[in-house]
Amino acid sequence: MKSSWRFEFGFILLLALNQNLRTALASESSKQAYVTLLYGDEFVLGARVLGKSIRDTRSTKDMVVLVSDGVSDYAKTLLQADGWIVTPISLLENPNQVRPTRFWGVYTKLKIFNMTDYKKVVYLDADTIVVKNIDVLFKCGKFCANLKHSERLNSGVMVVEPSEELFNDMVSKVTTLYSYTGGDQGFLNAYYAGFPSARVFDPNVSPEVLDSRPVAEMERLSTLYNADVGLYMLANKWMVDEKELCVIHYTLGPLKPWDWWTSWLVKPVDIWQDVREHLEESLPGTGRGRDPHNDLLVRNFELFCFLGLIMTPLYSSSGSISTRSLCDHARHIYYKFRSGGALAYSTVSSSNINSNQQFSNGVHSMVPAFLGGISILVCFMAVIVSLGFGFSVVPRQVKPWTGLVLMYEWIFTTFFLLFGGYLHIIYKWGKMVASQTGNPRPGASDYDFEKGHQRVSCDVAPWYYGLGMAFLAVAAPLAPGVFGINALFLRLSMMAGGGLIFACFTTYASEQLAIRSFMRGLEDRDTSRTRNVCFLCC
Ligand SMILES: *[C@@H]1O[C@H](CO)[C@@H](O)[C@H](O)[C@H]1NC(C)=O
Repeated sequence: MKSSWRFEFGFILLLALNQNLRTALASESSKQAYVTLLYGDEFVLGARVLGKSIRDTRSTKDMVVLVSDGVSDYAKTLLQADGWIVTPISLLENPNQVRPTRFWGVYTKLKIFNMTDYKKVVYLDADTIVVKNIDVLFKCGKFCANLKHSERLNSGVMVVEPSEELFNDMVSKVTTLYSYTGGDQGFLNAYYAGFPSARVFDPNVSPEVLDSRPVAEMERLSTLYNADVGLYMLANKWMVDEKELCVIHYTLGPLKPWDWWTSWLVKPVDIWQDVREHLEESLPGTGRGRDPHNDLLVRNFELFCFLGLIMTPLYSSSGSISTRSLCDHARHIYYKFRSGGALAYSTVSSSNINSNQQFSNGVHSMVPAFLGGISILVCFMAVIVSLGFGFSVVPRQVKPWTGLVLMYEWIFTTFFLLFGGYLHIIYKWGKMVASQTGNPRPGASDYDFEKGHQRVSCDVAPWYYGLGMAFLAVAAPLAPGVFGINALFLRLSMMAGGGLIFACFTTYASEQLAIRSFMRGLEDRDTSRTRNVCFLCC
């Protein structure tokens, strides 16, 4: 209740301020404005970065953000603090009944044609950034846009001379003109039917020439003012001179620059992230594009994951909880030291179990044949669940490195808990089988320190398997970056290749780990004794 009051109050204050600002600034200089449009909070970070990028080009024009009902009061306050003039608008209903859901309310974009407070506005989608001053665009004709694939104008960057008459004419035709997209872009293409044959806007046009001819009804903008990241991805370079670029448009469908993972797929996102990195702390906790709400979440995650990772050594990968595995490790090092480093079992190899002939002859036959298959299945289910969980739990708009590290923390923790738990069950199962059959453990009677290190429980192989899996899991997605490969398709295929190697290794490792756990269970029927030994050794 309290917070909603506060927001409401803040919002009213904001509106009043906004009104004052507008009357105060209704001078000649503010007859021009950069405009963007927000339907919800998802694109707010995009708008912040866009605003920052405009100011970075030393433009002093007004920056107006039209916000519809979906935008929260907090976001409005934040944008205001960033220097945007926040103008609430109601949604203009989309008359096309059959349309993709994402176009709901997209006709609202037409409202920029009704911004009659301004003589000229340059509209930019919230998923664009300005990399070079584009104030020259205010010299463009009454309607300017950029032609995209197949002779169609793209409504992501437009120069508009607002006029209520024009706007009303548009609205009256909204129901009758066919929109090929079902949204505003299709409508504008139909409304400005002759657009593909319009002349190209020349930014170097002299004032004399400009004055001597009538203002163009429409003009086309060069690709420099709306450079599509999609085009970059196809050729893996800008089709235009990179130094001449003015506006970059991140149009790759769901790959929005503010989602942390896109930076690992789409090279030009680095330019966006670089601007984001320099965002000011307009409200507490919002510097560098952080979200104070997320921030708390992120810190909680880190703490939780940290605790999880502390716990995992206790959950040794063969399943037995305790300081015991650590003791085994210490003992292993001790024996390695004593025997001059020659230990048969310290290598990862398939002959590992078999090399332990004395032990395996008696016990290996007790391992159920289907254990391997089931374990592989369980392991891959655990991988999939961990992946899904890791992705869904990390806030989308964190920075690329934060996102990556957080995701790995979550995936590893989840996987350790899931598969570690499974191995523990297998271990218990082995113990149960052993006590049922009453099969005497080889070497049980004459157990001593010398024999002790021969036991599978001393084995460090699980650590190698675990670390090998972790290494491959990290290496597979990062390899393209390490090798400097930027092309999306090549990157994806390289990741797929890495994933395949990971899958092969994991198949093998999961089977081995499960069999080892089971055998260790068989052998550890009598745990009290080993514990004593362990305490002795530690
Ligand atoms: C268009 O602008 C005029 C003048 O600012 C305003 O009175 C009118 O309500 C606006 N129309 C819409 C649909 O927003």
